Amino acid sequence: MTTTNHAVVLAARPNGAPVESDFRVEQRPIPPLAPGQILCRNLFISLDAGFRNWMDEDSGDNVLPAMPLGEPVMGLTLSQVMESQHPDYQPGEYLMARFAWEEHTVTDAGDFISRLPSKPRDPLSHYLGVLGDTGLSAYFGLTDHGRVQTGETVLVSAAAGAVGSIAGQIARIHGARAVGIASGAEKCAQLIDVLGYDAAVDRTQADIDAAIERACPNGVDVYFDNVGGPLLEHVLDQINEDARILLCGAVASYSATEPLPGPRNLFQLTTKHASMHGFMTHLQLPRYDEARDVLGGWIDAGRITVPEHRLEGIDNVGRAFCDLFRGANFGKSVVAL
Ligand SMILES: NC(=O)c1ccc[n+]([C@@H]2O[C@H](COP(=O)([O-])OP(=O)(O)OC[C@H]3O[C@@H](n4cnc5c(N)ncnc54)[C@H](OP(=O)(O)O)[C@@H]3O)[C@@H](O)[C@H]2O)c1
Repeated sequence: MTTTNHAVVLAARPNGAPVESDFRVEQRPIPPLAPGQILCRNLFISLDAGFRNWMDEDSGDNVLPAMPLGEPVMGLTLSQVMESQHPDYQPGEYLMARFAWEEHTVTDAGDFISRLPSKPRDPLSHYLGVLGDTGLSAYFGLTDHGRVQTGETVLVSAAAGAVGSIAGQIARIHGARAVGIASGAEKCAQLIDVLGYDAAVDRTQADIDAAIERACPNGVDVYFDNVGGPLLEHVLDQINEDARILLCGAVASYSATEPLPGPRNLFQLTTKHASMHGFMTHLQLPRYDEARDVLGGWIDAGRITVPEHRLEGIDNVGRAFCDLFRGANFGKSVVAL
């Protein structure tokens, strides 16, 4: 049996956007299995911007506890059971789990865990992206809450990211016009060329209102918001009647050292009889298989392209996480161990 483990520990609480020195790789022993526990090998680590919230001493919410300093960083993993003393888990099974950034995990399986189908699709890393929480956020967000219709304009922030790269393509499958927001001319060109967005908005340009107006000449019917912050206020000025604002995430605020000001134009929701809806995808766990079947069908039919920002090795996990906050990823960010 393997006895050594490498883990990425939280060396310092990030001050603003995370930097590589906030993380440190340590060698740690693998504890022996106790009754009721499983030993897993973590094959892929998923990098998710939202976990930045729990790196602060006081995260300001009670969804998860703050991560302790000097301990392995909590995250999402694609893992395989190697040994089991738990009646419900067999060696060889694949799990999507909330484990730590480490090569091996010993657990009583009480963490958020979803099993992969007995015959999982290839590549397995898709279960952290398009077939995991991020792709399913795009799917449930647009279908359940967005109720996107043919001919509507769907605007997506962080459009090249894990959620956004799938959201734009789902919007187009529903016959909508998809417009993506990303940073930089090169990434915006890729939104159109690689992901099939109809138009793109570079969020780094000076006049963001004019850029949104140019890209969305008929206004915005659905705003799939991954970012929050000042961008939300700009978009609210351009929503149509009955618009739906989907609050998937707020990456602009995760690293803010002071609370960001809220939008000053919420009255737009009243006059446009529009709605804002937040959602947490993991609460839909019983529906994951149903959604994976639909998304898998679209991938097989060539209707969805799945970009991945893939790095290799435990030493690159911290860097891959920091990449999310400097916009360096295109697609789902994973590290293969
Ligand atoms: N509700 C749920 O259940 C659920 C589940 C999964 C994820 N989420 C949320 O969905 C959002 C997207 O997640 P993801 O995994 O797909 O991340 P991601 O989009 O792959 O990566 C983050 C992207 O956000 C943009 N960004 C970073 N800092 C920013 C800032 N200060 N202002 C504006 N944009 C910034 C960058 O793109 P550009 O530089 O190109 O703009 C970056 O590439 C996150 O907020 C995440 O927490 C929610």
